[in-house]
Amino acid sequence: MSHYQKPPELYDGLRLHQNENTGGCSPKVIEALARLRADQIGFYPPYADATAAVARYLGAAPESVTLTNGLDEGIMALSVAYLRPSVAGPVFEAVVPEPAFEIFRFDTAVAGGHLVQVLPTPDFAFPLDDVLAAIRGRTRVVFLTNPNNPTGVAIPLDAIRTIAGQMPANGVVFVDEAYAEFAGQSFIPQLASFPNVVVGRTFSKAFGLAGLRIGCLVGAPDTVDAIRRAIPVYSVSIAAVTAVRAALEDRDHLDGYLRQVAESKTLLYGACERLGLKYWKSSANFVLVCAGDRTEALVKGAFARGVYIRDRSTEPGCAGCIRIGTGVVEHTKRCIAVMEEVLCAAP
Ligand SMILES: Cc1ncc(COP(=O)(O)O)c(C=O)c1O
Repeated sequence: MSHYQKPPELYDGLRLHQNENTGGCSPKVIEALARLRADQIGFYPPYADATAAVARYLGAAPESVTLTNGLDEGIMALSVAYLRPSVAGPVFEAVVPEPAFEIFRFDTAVAGGHLVQVLPTPDFAFPLDDVLAAIRGRTRVVFLTNPNNPTGVAIPLDAIRTIAGQMPANGVVFVDEAYAEFAGQSFIPQLASFPNVVVGRTFSKAFGLAGLRIGCLVGAPDTVDAIRRAIPVYSVSIAAVTAVRAALEDRDHLDGYLRQVAESKTLLYGACERLGLKYWKSSANFVLVCAGDRTEALVKGAFARGVYIRDRSTEPGCAGCIRIGTGVVEHTKRCIAVMEEVLCAAP
């Protein structure tokens, strides 16, 4: 497959297949959107207040934060800025430890870069030595996700420092922190010492704003400047900048959701143990579960019962694996009941 295939548009069941916040955004976001005036919608959106609010939340300087239309836009812009070959110049390389967020693969191809995949270890521990061995003179980007999608496994910050120290000049380490709120660790406090690292964040996951599309890139202004040039002017809407400010003001909503995610993961681990399914402890809001030869039956059986979970079998190192979102506890309990029903009914 040479381009990203969006999952089918399923909105009439329980969506545990795209790592979204199934409880939705803070009610304060809805109130703020309802207060938007016609003139605000008539004008191009101001970014300064939202950028300042995001920077405060992340503990970063406003000049190091660039808002994007979802983190997806940031990843595409970074790929274009760093991997696009110049006329008759060399093809630049992107190193991706697998299994990884598949967008890295597709955006590398769109930008004209060459993908260098690092194969996973059996337990998904971070393959630092193999990543270092893959870095060469033409490496322009190392794509990391911390904690990783689809495994949920965290990368030690020390490993990121080591990789940054081995990058060739003009190369960047991209640390995708889409799930950082659930892990409670970030590379952002270290960015001042690592100008060749760019961190990506999203408000789609912990803050439940996926439908509004807002994320950001954080990094040294000189490093991020090249990426900014590849981002369309005003790609973030007035709805998104309004929503993110309101979401950041409702800390209770965020904390409540983080508590539910932690409880949901514990419940799902317990269910996997009862059902004899291998799983990996996750630092994110989903769990990768190995159902082996029961994968297809489980995904299809859950689908028939209105619960959507994601077959990740074709991802490197993930044969027989399913990724299951663990958000609102009530939703997790429903998913577990369906898993038990399907697996216990199977021959
Ligand atoms: C690792 C990772 N990065 C980025 C994204 C996309 O985030 P956004 O919704 O902000 O585009 C996702 C979404 O699933 C993701 O898993």
